[in-house]
Amino acid sequence: QNKETLYETIGGFSRVERLVDIFYSNVKEHSALYPIFPADLTETARKQKQFLTQFLGGPSLYTDEHGHPRLRARHLPFPITRTRAIAWLSCMEDAMDEIDLEEPAREEIMQRLSQTAQHMINTAED
Ligand code: HEM
Repeated sequence: QNKETLYETIGGFSRVERLVDIFYSNVKEHSALYPIFPADLTETARKQKQFLTQFLGGPSLYTDEHGHPRLRARHLPFPITRTRAIAWLSCMEDAMDEIDLEEPAREEIMQRLSQTAQHMINTAED
């Protein structure tokens, strides 16, 4: 039998949805982040739910609709500084707190997101 995916461990799509909705409500309130995001985050949140689903080992919802993620390239239009990467991760940690995401899944997911966030940094501090 195959090992359970992180996606299954945390409770599938409904859990990803709650996490992402809270995450973007945090982003909206973060002074370092909201200026570079669209005012209406509906479509951004929809794509992030698709992406995180596949990132955590669930169905390939993002790629099925949008093709290869090419995340670094897709972020190049936005000035992503180290400060913004830290801010992004802190909005995610707060969202994880709010949904009471359980260990050890939480630690493992944060680890992977931290690596990806580092990789998105594309500009020096403004
Ligand atoms: C899109 C910022 C890290 C996944 C975006 C957008 C911004 C942004 C401004 C465009 C929103 C829009 O136009 O709809 C940031 C910043 C980060 C960061 C400041 C800090 C490091 C990440 C990480 C991931 C991620 C770590 C993945 C785990 C995505 C996805 C999209 C997106 C999937 C939608 C791409 C698309 O349009 O198809 N991000 N991001 N981002 N971001 Fe990030």
